[in-house]
Amino acid sequence: MRSFLVFLSLALSVLSAPSPSPPFFRATSLNGKALAILPLGDSITLGWKDPSGNGYRKPLYDLLTTAHTHTTFLGSYVSGNFSQPHHEGHGGATSTVIAQAATEMHDSVDPNLVLLHAGVNDAALAAYAHEPEPIAGIGEVEKLIDLVTEFWPRAAVLVARIIPVDPAEFAEGLETQRNVDAINERISYVVAQRAYFGRRIALVDMSHGPITAADLVDFAHPSPEGYAKMADLWFTGIQDVVARGWVPEP
Ligand SMILES: *[C@@H]1O[C@H](CO)[C@@H](O)[C@H](O)[C@H]1NC(C)=O
Repeated sequence: MRSFLVFLSLALSVLSAPSPSPPFFRATSLNGKALAILPLGDSITLGWKDPSGNGYRKPLYDLLTTAHTHTTFLGSYVSGNFSQPHHEGHGGATSTVIAQAATEMHDSVDPNLVLLHAGVNDAALAAYAHEPEPIAGIGEVEKLIDLVTEFWPRAAVLVARIIPVDPAEFAEGLETQRNVDAINERISYVVAQRAYFGRRIALVDMSHGPITAADLVDFAHPSPEGYAKMADLWFTGIQDVVARGWVPEP
C-alpha cells in the first residue's frame, strides 16, 4: 500500500509538472500539423441525439481547422453532415464491445491520435443489476485502454474521464453516477500509470467542470452545446499532446 501511494504521488507530480513550452509556442504548435484522429467509444462518440449527428466531432474539426491543422477523422462508421464523418462510436456499447470492434478494425486505420470516451454503458449495466460496485466495468475499461495502446503504438492517446449522467432522468441514475465516478477514478489511475512508464497517453477530464447534467438532453447524451464543450476539452488536450511532441507524422 505504501509503495502504491508513493508511486501514485510520483505519477501525479509528473502529470502536474508545468509544461516547459511558453504560451506563445503552445498557441501556435498546431499550425500545419497533420492529424489522423480515431474517435473511439459509444453513442456519445457517434453523436447520438445531436440533430446533425455530428456530436463533438464537427465542433472539434472546426477548432482544429481554424488552428490550421490538416485533420482527417478515421473509423468504420459514418454519421453527421460535415466533411469528415468517420468515427468508431458504437451505440449502447460497453467497453467489452468497443474492444471487440477495435480488435476487428484496428489493421484498417493508422491514426496518430486516438480519442477514447468509454465507460458509461458499463456504469449503467452494473447499476441496472444493482451491483454494489462496477467491478467488471472497471476491469473492462482498463483492458480497453491497454488494447488501444497496443493496437496503435505510434499514436498519442487521449482518454476522457467520462461526462456525468443526469441522475434525475432514470431510476438507476444515482447508482449509475456512482459507477461513473468509480470508473473515472480507475481511468485516472491507469492513464497516470501508463504515462509514468513512458506511454504517450494523457487524460482529458470531462467528469466535472464545464459539462454538467444541464448539458444533457436525456440520461446520458449531450445537447449540441454540450457536445461543443466536449470538443473544447478535446481541443485543449490535443494542443497539449502536440506541444509535448507526442503526435508523430501520420
Ligand atoms: C446538418 O444538420 C443540422 C441539423 O439537422 C442542420 O441544421 C444543418 O443545416 C445541417 N448542415 C448541413 C451542412 O447540411
